[in-house]
Amino acid sequence: MTTRRSIIRAGLLGSAILTGAVSYAPMAMAQEVVKIGLILPMTGPFASTGRQIEAAAKLYMAQNGATVAGKKIELIVKDDTGTPDVTRRLAQELLVNEKVSVLGGFGLTPLAMSTVPLATQAKVPMVVMAAATSMITEASPFVTRTSFTLPQAASVMADWASKNGVKKVVTLVSDYAPGHDAEKWFADTFTAAGGKVEASIRAPLQNPDFAAFLQRVKEAQPDALYVFVPSGVGATVMKQFVERGLDKSGIKLIGTGDVTDDDIINGYGDAAIGAITAHHYSAAHPSAKNKAFVEAFKKASNMRPNFMGVAGYDGMHLIYEALKKTGGTTDGTKLMDAMKGTAWESPRGPVSIDPETREIVLNMYVRKVEKVDGELYNVEFSTFEGVKDPAKKKK
Ligand code: PHB
Repeated sequence: MTTRRSIIRAGLLGSAILTGAVSYAPMAMAQEVVKIGLILPMTGPFASTGRQIEAAAKLYMAQNGATVAGKKIELIVKDDTGTPDVTRRLAQELLVNEKVSVLGGFGLTPLAMSTVPLATQAKVPMVVMAAATSMITEASPFVTRTSFTLPQAASVMADWASKNGVKKVVTLVSDYAPGHDAEKWFADTFTAAGGKVEASIRAPLQNPDFAAFLQRVKEAQPDALYVFVPSGVGATVMKQFVERGLDKSGIKLIGTGDVTDDDIINGYGDAAIGAITAHHYSAAHPSAKNKAFVEAFKKASNMRPNFMGVAGYDGMHLIYEALKKTGGTTDGTKLMDAMKGTAWESPRGPVSIDPETREIVLNMYVRKVEKVDGELYNVEFSTFEGVKDPAKKKK
């Protein structure tokens, strides 16, 4: 029978094809957005950390595209001025209003710690790209880190010093959590190797004046002064070191590499030549990957990258890799699981995220300040490979 039904079916089919033809027209599907919120000190005494990390994150996105696993990446940068209450408020806004999938940045330990409870409650990963006190990654299963820890740098510095003729040291650190880590891990390692810590001096973090402390150091006449101050503060120490005549008194300057930060070292003058530090990044690191990174960074931002910059760059890489592994899923627990064990070649050398502790594993280099082509650099001369955070190993 030529039935009504078949006529109706033909008609339906026809209209279906028609509708199909219409819907294939340029009705682009809205691409889903994944928001990454970076909270950084963009103003105030630690602004160089913010500038470095923001420039690095933007460079990473320019080089690798703003789409990962089919999702569009949106970077939101907020200035916390280096004040913990502001960091916490901004984190709350980013979590609640912007619905960010990842929080990153964190220029100082107190800023990172103020945000940990919020990220934990929201189950949103926190990628620490600057702050370096060991305990931060222990504070929550939602925290990982791409910077470094002070115990990693301090223990390597002490190991090297004890084997290279340094017997008597005075330590000088900023009086807050990372300074305490830097002091303890230097002293414990150095004294276990037979060295003597003559005095341990702590200077205030805010508006430090090192002159009186340095006078005490001069009188104690140690073989070396070991220094930790956070990135950005090194210039003050160096200036007063020279003003007090310590550079001419035969006291060696050693420390974690924060004091000879690449961002400011070139303004130190020749008095800084010969300072020996242990750290995970130097703009002079002699690899092809780093040469390309330094060149691109300078071209994009007019700055020499420092250890904060490289950690921001690697932080973005870790987030991109995790999103690739989850196929674009932004569930916080899945993203954290994806980050664990990730390994890659950074401009600073090979790095990975320890799957047990979520802490970065990296090479530590011993470096000496030298003049290269008329500019001051930290020139690496000894490598400690695959250094895990010793503060966690001891547990
Ligand atoms: C920190 O507050 O954890 C911190 C900041 C800057 C550094 C190192 C540690 O250079």
